[in-house]
Amino acid sequence: MARIPKETVDQIIHHADIVEVVGDFVSLKKKGQNMWACCPFHHEKSPSFSVAPAKGLYKCFGCGKAGGVVQFIMDIEGTSYVEALKYLAKKYGIDVQEEEKTPEQQLAQNEKDSQFIVSNWAKDHYHHLLEHDDEGQSVGWSYLRQRGLNQTTIATFELGYSLDQWDNLLKSATAAGYEQKYLEKTGLVVVKEDDNGQDTGRRYDRFRGRVMFPIHNVSGRVIGFGARTLKPHDKTAKYLNSPESEIYHKSDVLYGLYQARQPIRSEEQCYLVEGYLDVLSLHQGGVKNVVSTSGTSLTDGQIRLVKRYTDNVTVLYDGDAAGIRASLRGIDMLLEGGLNVRVVLFPDGDDPDSYIRKVGDQRFKDYLETASQDFIQFKTELVSREAAHDPVKKAEAIREVLQSIAKVPDPIKRQVFLQQTSQTFGIDEQVIISEYNKLARQPAGKPGTGGGNTSSGGGSGAGFQPETRNQPPRASRQLSPEEEAEALMYGASPEDLAGGGAGAATDDMEPVPDILERCEREVVRLLLLYSAQPLAPEVSVAQYLLEQLDDTTFKTGIYADMLHLCREELNQGRWPEVRTLIQHGRADIRSAVAELATEKYELSPNWTTHQIHVPRELDVLQPACDNAILRLNKVNVERELAVRLEALRNPTDEAEMMENLQTIHLLKQMDNQLANLLGTVIPRLNG
Ligand code: CTP
Ligand code: MN
Repeated sequence: MARIPKETVDQIIHHADIVEVVGDFVSLKKKGQNMWACCPFHHEKSPSFSVAPAKGLYKCFGCGKAGGVVQFIMDIEGTSYVEALKYLAKKYGIDVQEEEKTPEQQLAQNEKDSQFIVSNWAKDHYHHLLEHDDEGQSVGWSYLRQRGLNQTTIATFELGYSLDQWDNLLKSATAAGYEQKYLEKTGLVVVKEDDNGQDTGRRYDRFRGRVMFPIHNVSGRVIGFGARTLKPHDKTAKYLNSPESEIYHKSDVLYGLYQARQPIRSEEQCYLVEGYLDVLSLHQGGVKNVVSTSGTSLTDGQIRLVKRYTDNVTVLYDGDAAGIRASLRGIDMLLEGGLNVRVVLFPDGDDPDSYIRKVGDQRFKDYLETASQDFIQFKTELVSREAAHDPVKKAEAIREVLQSIAKVPDPIKRQVFLQQTSQTFGIDEQVIISEYNKLARQPAGKPGTGGGNTSSGGGSGAGFQPETRNQPPRASRQLSPEEEAEALMYGASPEDLAGGGAGAATDDMEPVPDILERCEREVVRLLLLYSAQPLAPEVSVAQYLLEQLDDTTFKTGIYADMLHLCREELNQGRWPEVRTLIQHGRADIRSAVAELATEKYELSPNWTTHQIHVPRELDVLQPACDNAILRLNKVNVERELAVRLEALRNPTDEAEMMENLQTIHLLKQMDNQLANLLGTVIPRLNG
């Protein structure tokens, strides 16, 4: 057994800080005396794993794992005491003088240690060949340079080259004293079998004539390899990977995470890409918080891994439609994992690697910033585009989006997403919610509800407004008989009330007015109904709203006209009122006024459906006004943003593009600010 001298052990334990050591594997948050995180040893949603800095201990109150720094590394890596000490020594720059050094003795540790050691040796071997061998230089090195990678990146990721020979690795490893058994167990060497699966006794290197990408685990140990062929007409696969082994579990590994874990934490954001080269190019370009699934579909294990470091993931997509469709499921899994998911789409034909090389580092970063979209919004737009002009497809598309929303564990986020969906499709929010409830009621795993990936608690856990489940969907703008009578008294014609006006009553999936129109209407409604109500000393609703709207022009003809009328009234020293405007010469204005005056109060649909105390709108005028203005501004900002983003897709010249990027940046900031403000203003039941 390898031995590390006692004084070195003491030195390591003295230097190793439990918070730093554990902090490399999970994000710790301070609460009281201790630090807390979700346990890395078992699956949990709320933190029961704690670190006591003063005592130098960790303990999970969920699964019971506990110990000091060395134990932690042994637990998380599955290594021996000696290997754990070596890990810590390396981290703290402490020189370990082992008392004996031959490979056999090193290998006389546990199985996992041996596989780590031989993988590490192979990594050094491949790297050495890349840097010092003629073939490594002329073939491997020149390829990497041609792909734009520099010395630093190659060193950071410890890239290498395998000679185009059948047994270079096998021979070199054997000569260096490594046991063949471990070369086979890690898949570096292939056991040649005959047709009956019998060992023929022949052995050969798995990787030959390829650029080698070592795959590290989170603590930086090499656990496997990806390898790219350099022969353009090679009949074998472009990439060859190590097989599963005791140390390499593909479903629990993300390429690049070791190099990305600190940046992910400091940026509070993780970029997810598909390929090795994507990780390398982005890292080299300064986007260091990037990891790759390496061509496989995302697994739960990988999601949990990301979640140790951040809650925010941005998926970077190649821009082809088939690829996007195929990845939607994986993204739903991210949502299910409770992550906030954004998406960046690259122009067709480009992957992140080719795109950053095309546009350069700075423009690439700008692009990430500006082109990133919330996933639900992205999916909504994607499917709604596909379903444009086809009502049947549209209903299906809405269901698809709602299925994604049902995966979001946080009810407040779900509520916001439902609002957005209603806006994008131009469908009344109540209709969306009732459709959502139908879906959320269905058992998870039923065909069409998102596949066999049964989430805990099933769909019902994500239900919304469960009290209304057995009732037909509420059409939010249907008038009660009293209201109808009242409206008629105000001079509305029966046809006006029967729909066809600005806001036709909604029953099922009928389209309702464009969101902007709705926002403008809401402002005019508040203006007319409550114009004289004081919000503050000397400030009435009409004064407040008109002041806020000073530099806003309405896009909907009728509401632009009504706003103008209200302004005139106020300028004349009168409150704009239903009573006067209902007498207006224009029939369309009269009926619009009637309609607004009879509109059901729907500040928050939750209040009515939860059958709890419903405040009168009169009592919540200030938030109602702020809400209306903020929503209106947000929609206007979003429309402008959409126009600018569209323009970005077909740039005409550099200057215009830069100007556009700047504007987009500003608009995004505004949009975020507005969203934050809205978050504080909307009276929310479950907020
Ligand atoms: N991949 C793999 N096996 C393959 C093909 C791909 O494991 N036969 C994985 C690799 O991790 C690869 C990723 O899928 O990086 C993306 O594949 P692809 O888009 O085909 O490759 P690129 O990364 O674009 O490769 P390159 O730019 O080197 O051509
Ligand atoms: Mn590529």
